[in-house]
Amino acid sequence: MSRAGAPPAAAPTAGETVLELRDLTTEIRSVRGLVRPVDAVSLRVRAGEVVGLVGESGSGKSMTAFSVMRLFPTKAARLVSGEVRLRGRDLVPLPQEAMRAVRGREVGMIFQDPASYLNPVLSVGRQLEQQLQAHAMGRGARARIAELLRDVGLASEIAGRYPHELSGGQAQRVGIASALACRPALVIADEPTTALDVTIQAQVLRLMARLQREGGVAMLLITHDLGVVAEVCDHVYVMYAGRIVEEAPVASLFAAPQHPYTQGLLAGVLDLIEPKPIEVAIHGSVPDLASPPPGCRFHPRCPHVMDVCRRETPPHFEVGDARAACWLHDGAPGAEATA
Ligand SMILES: Nc1ncnc2c1ncn2[C@@H]1O[C@H](COP(=O)(O)OP(=O)(O)OP(=O)(O)O)[C@@H](O)[C@H]1O
Ligand code: SF4
Ligand SMILES: [Mg+2]
Repeated sequence: MSRAGAPPAAAPTAGETVLELRDLTTEIRSVRGLVRPVDAVSLRVRAGEVVGLVGESGSGKSMTAFSVMRLFPTKAARLVSGEVRLRGRDLVPLPQEAMRAVRGREVGMIFQDPASYLNPVLSVGRQLEQQLQAHAMGRGARARIAELLRDVGLASEIAGRYPHELSGGQAQRVGIASALACRPALVIADEPTTALDVTIQAQVLRLMARLQREGGVAMLLITHDLGVVAEVCDHVYVMYAGRIVEEAPVASLFAAPQHPYTQGLLAGVLDLIEPKPIEVAIHGSVPDLASPPPGCRFHPRCPHVMDVCRRETPPHFEVGDARAACWLHDGAPGAEATA
């Protein structure tokens, strides 16, 4: 049977693990050597959950998303190890053609700039129709397009418009409609509201959160904005220099951050958008991923740095319902090292 004729997969059940990354590692060959923007990243997103991925500029958030979809911005990037399990099936061994069937159908994507993925020469209706047809969901397309536009708060006339005739907020709503068109199990949204006006940002986020909850979709939301995390995420992963340094349910992360990097972010001492040295830091700058510091990559900026931090990479320690990659938790009451 051709991929276009494949039957739609059953919707995930509540709590089902939809996406699981296990030790995912991606390398980029650059003039300065090999860079690992995604270094042994493990994370999990369940059905009905919004999982945030935060970290300062250049920490590897987008490369993590590209690694899941195997859509890299450069030919110099490749997955080197690890697993990308989508509803239990590892996508890493799949050939590119099978990946094309996964993209758009099983995984919807929303990016910062909808203009970058809306086709400028096709009307909104025509591009949604093409997408449904490409994934064998073309029957009843007209009704489905009307339903999608209604769901994202757009009038049905928008179907006749071209991308340049849309405002930023309307274009991003079309982007969301397109991501949800084939009823994917997972949506990956990379800075979906960053390019929008502040008032529109809130509307679009609430819309995404509502559609995600109603549809029971799993969502991985990449953002610089801790306010957005607090408002819409259930669980958060914090990334620093290619590695996950902390993960926790959102309430725990904000109430009691366990990693000094997360503590710095929440205290406002560290900034996700304009990374800068903290005053107490010894060398104080964001590490160059071509030659990252040994041991804990945060050690040149950490106010709690110890000798061991400069030599050895900290494992993840379980601390209550959080996990933090920091030596401060070694031997702490209730802390337990995990893989
Ligand atoms: N096109 C590219 N060519 C070479 N290296 C790249 C490219 N894109 C990313 N990188 C490398 O990967 C690292 C991670 O980049 P990535 O885009 O994932 O960061 P990010 O966390 O999404 O940042 P931002 O918040 O600014 O979007 C960068 O620091 C850089 O070293
Ligand atoms: S491992 Fe050491 S340097 Fe790294 S965050 Fe913890 S205390 Fe700071
Ligand atoms: Mg990015």
